[in-house]
This record gives sequence, C-alpha cells and structure tokens, in this order.
Amino acid sequence: VIGNYDCIIVRSRTRMDAAVISRAERAKLIVRAGVGTDNIDIDAAAAAGIAVANTPQANVVSAAELSIAMMLALNRHICAANQSMHSLRWDTLSATGSELFGKILGIVGLGRVGKEVAKRAASFGMHLLASDPYVSVGDAASVSAELTDLRTLLSSCDILSLHASLLPGNRHLIGRNEIALMKKEALLINTARGELVDTGALADALSEGRLRGAALDVYENEPHVDQRLASLSSVLMTPHIGAQTREAQNRVGMEVVNVVNAFFMEGKPLNVLNMQGR
Ligand SMILES: NC(=O)c1ccc[n+]([C@@H]2O[C@H](COP(=O)([O-])OP(=O)(O)OC[C@H]3O[C@@H](n4cnc5c(N)ncnc54)[C@H](O)[C@@H]3O)[C@@H](O)[C@H]2O)c1
Repeated sequence: VIGNYDCIIVRSRTRMDAAVISRAERAKLIVRAGVGTDNIDIDAAAAAGIAVANTPQANVVSAAELSIAMMLALNRHICAANQSMHSLRWDTLSATGSELFGKILGIVGLGRVGKEVAKRAASFGMHLLASDPYVSVGDAASVSAELTDLRTLLSSCDILSLHASLLPGNRHLIGRNEIALMKKEALLINTARGELVDTGALADALSEGRLRGAALDVYENEPHVDQRLASLSSVLMTPHIGAQTREAQNRVGMEVVNVVNAFFMEGKPLNVLNMQGR
C-alpha cells in the first residue's frame, strides 16, 4: 500500500529500506516521529526525491530523565530493594549503595540529550567528562563538561552514559577493548541505541566482574530480550521507554503536525535531514 501515500509517518520499529522506498511512488515526505532515523535509508529517499524529517526536540528531556533515573536506581539498588520488600523481606545490607555526588560521569555524545543529562548531573555535584568529535570545548564547557578523547573518558569515569547517534561508524563503539579500559567498579548506562554496544562483550564483562553494572533501555535486536543480560542481577533493563512519557508523546504529535503542515502547506522543509544541496 506504500505507493498510495504522499506522506509517511513512522516510529522507530518500521524499517523504511531502499526496497520499500522504491515503491513509495507518490511520497514526498517521510516523517520519523522521534529523533533517530537509523530505520530509514535517508540516502535512498533523497535519491528518490523524498524528504526525510524528524522531531528532534520532543523526546530530549524524557530520555535525559530516564538516564538520570537509571544512574540513581543502579547506585541505590532501588529495583532489587523494591523486589525484596514485595517478597516481604526486609533486607537492608544488600541495598548498600553509593552516591552520585563527587563521581565522574563520562558522557559519550554531547548532543541534545547528552547536554540535558550533563545539566542534571552537574546539579548532583558530579564531575563531567564528554567525548564528541563534533562538539567544541566551549560548547562542552557551557554544560560544565570537560571535552576529552574516548579512551581518557573510559578509563576515568565512574559512570559511562551513552548519548551518541547511531552513525554508520558507531556500531560497537563500546566493544571488548573499550570495556577493558573501564574501571571495575564502573557502571554503563545506554539509553541511546543498542548497536553502540557489543552486547556479548558487555555480558562477558558483567558476568566476570570486570564491570559493576549496566542499565539499558535499548538493545541490538529489539524487541528480542537477550537471555544472558536478563540472567544478570547487575543489569537493569527497560523496553525502550526513553521517549515514553505523556509529555514527550504529546510533543512528538505536535512536532509531526508542524513538519507536515510546513512541508505541504507552506513549502518549508522543517527538520528535513536529507535534501541539502538538492
Ligand atoms: N531511548 C529512547 O527512547 C531515546 C529517546 C531519544 C533519543 N534516543 C537516542 O539518544 C541518542 C541521542 O539523541 P539526541 O537527540 O541527543 O541526538 P543528537 O543528534 O542531538 O546528539 C548525538 C550526538 O552524538 C554525537 N556523536 C556521533 N558520533 C559520536 C561518536 N562516535 N562519539 C561521540 N559522540 C558522537 C554527535 O556529534 C551528536 O552531538 C540518539 O542515539 C537517539 O537515537 C533514544
């Protein structure tokens, strides 16, 4: 049916690959209701004369708040403590946690979400390191972060929080060698994209005690739940709910309407990602 439509709106799970795009004969615009466009072949769309736009602002605060929630939950064993109370067990000893205050947070990807995480983490008294090849020292300093290279960040941080976009070169940005650089007591938080992390290498490090814990909202083969990760008590997992708040969903809806109106009613390419120079 794709050939019947002038405009196609998708979320993250619908794959708009070159084969689908080649049949979207009427389409002028594909809108991703959200930010990551890794499920859309934006070059194939551009070649077919189809603009691809996203709604980059709508999810930012929700994704940042989930990352902070995960840091606090992991550090204070909130999920395990809750489970033990629900099993009518009063277990204070295994719930001994640690503070965020004074810890070093390594932010990989200082874009929209990364910056909101930085602002919130700074208010907790954390020291912030950031690595992002497309951000300036001054830009990082504006959110209290010190820009550094990935290796220095990995070996220094107590908590690693991933906020990079899934560009073609970023698959397994955090693999076996990168995890080996991290402190044994460090935590890894990933609310960005599952493919940024080598799941096997992460599961190995956690089960061998070479990393203290991980909190994940995104996975390599969504919606498949990785058995090994699920079996580890040091792993906190949520099913890609970074953008799943009432506020973000309302904002996404409004941003999609604005993009479609601007494009078809006013001829304006709002948030269009793939038509530069065409
Ligand atoms: N879990 C969710 O539901 C949810 C919600 C919103 C966003 N996200 C994801 O979170 C991530 C951040 O979103 P955003 O809106 O901040 O995107 P953004 O484009 O504003 O920021 C991404 C940043 O990553 C940087 N980057 C790219 N490659 C890098 C690398 N190799 N090393 C370090 N930095 C690198 C870019 O320069 C950019 O500054 C994206 O992957 C997005 O898909 C997930």
